[in-house]
Amino acid sequence: MATIDYKQFITKDLTSLANDSIAELIEKAKKYDDVVSLGRGEPNFDMAKFMKDAMICAIKENQTHYVSGSIPELNGAIADKLKNENGLHIDSQFRIVVGAGSLPVLQAIIGAIVEPGEEIIVTDPTYLKYISIIRSMHAKPKFAIVYEENNFIPTVEELEKAYTNKTKAIMVNSPCNPTGAVFTKKQLEEIAEFAIEKNIIVITDEVYENIIYDDAKHYSIGSFDSDISERTITLNSFSKSYAMTGLRVGYAAGPIELMKHVFNYNYFGHICACVPSMYAALEALTNPKSKEFVQSMVKEYDRRRKFIVKRLNEIGLPTKMPKGAFYTFSRCDNFDKNSHNFANNVLEKSHVIVIPGSAFGPHGEGFVRISYATKYEQIEEAMDRMEKLLK
Ligand SMILES: Cc1ncc(COP(=O)(O)O)c(C=O)c1O
Repeated sequence: MATIDYKQFITKDLTSLANDSIAELIEKAKKYDDVVSLGRGEPNFDMAKFMKDAMICAIKENQTHYVSGSIPELNGAIADKLKNENGLHIDSQFRIVVGAGSLPVLQAIIGAIVEPGEEIIVTDPTYLKYISIIRSMHAKPKFAIVYEENNFIPTVEELEKAYTNKTKAIMVNSPCNPTGAVFTKKQLEEIAEFAIEKNIIVITDEVYENIIYDDAKHYSIGSFDSDISERTITLNSFSKSYAMTGLRVGYAAGPIELMKHVFNYNYFGHICACVPSMYAALEALTNPKSKEFVQSMVKEYDRRRKFIVKRLNEIGLPTKMPKGAFYTFSRCDNFDKNSHNFANNVLEKSHVIVIPGSAFGPHGEGFVRISYATKYEQIEEAMDRMEKLLK
């Protein structure tokens, strides 16, 4: 039995990070052997064979040593992609930093730009890990509330409310986890105007850019004009687009004067992403078969999206049609105002995992996040079970 009180050694900013509500659900789910999880935050598809082959080939050719941040071919391929697909203005004042997934790179960005106590605006609800990363860097997330009636897009009025003289940056996430919202060009232009007026940095997380439906179009805020591109860091990843979450390759791109510090931060902690994984990522960007691979995944997500939104609305969980990513953000407050209790009940009685909206911020309360990155038949089964419970 330890005689030391270890709490005295742990920073307070970290002790507030645990999300007990999700951990409790996942732990409880282990008791049942027929659980259907609609909690997944990653593609249920496997990586394409041609990407696997590139990785295996890299290992066989002994590409297994440290590199300084990235393999140069990958930086070149990312630069081409950002220029041709995202319309970013790539020149000598621009730099790309590759890391072991977008999250470590985001940590490096935040580590590079904030002093303890400074603030970063995030939406409420938001992707949970933004809050954890910001707090772990001894900074503060400031919430700009988003409402369902505005399609979960922040208004300038809410951004103004979140802004203080300690604000250093704003996080933008389109397509959005957990709401599935996709920002229009006009909405992004308003955020750009706000950031310029307040003289803050924009960090735009575009990891779901390829998972987009109907007439929705993905815009990169950093592509608009030089006033906004010179204060924007674009974050992206191979995890979702190419179903390679476990390989850990992500990147950020932005003005060299910011990115050289982000590079250092990332380099001190990681040196580089996994080198064979970077060869798989290079293949993803350069092999013409990639587009077809991505399209086939998106087509299947779309089929599931239409099915699940219809069923959820029929069951009595009002759900707007998401425009991107692979989540619905569904109202559960007509059954239970407390989303944790609702999710707990669904798990106990139907053996289905859904994630309480309160886990994504105070204004996620009354909603649940439901992922359709699960096989169609499993989604059917989950909907049947939930219907039996709720109707
Ligand atoms: C919005 C968002 N950003 C980033 C990530 C993490 O991506 P990566 O695997 O590149 O670290 C996720 C994963 O769920 C996400 O939902």
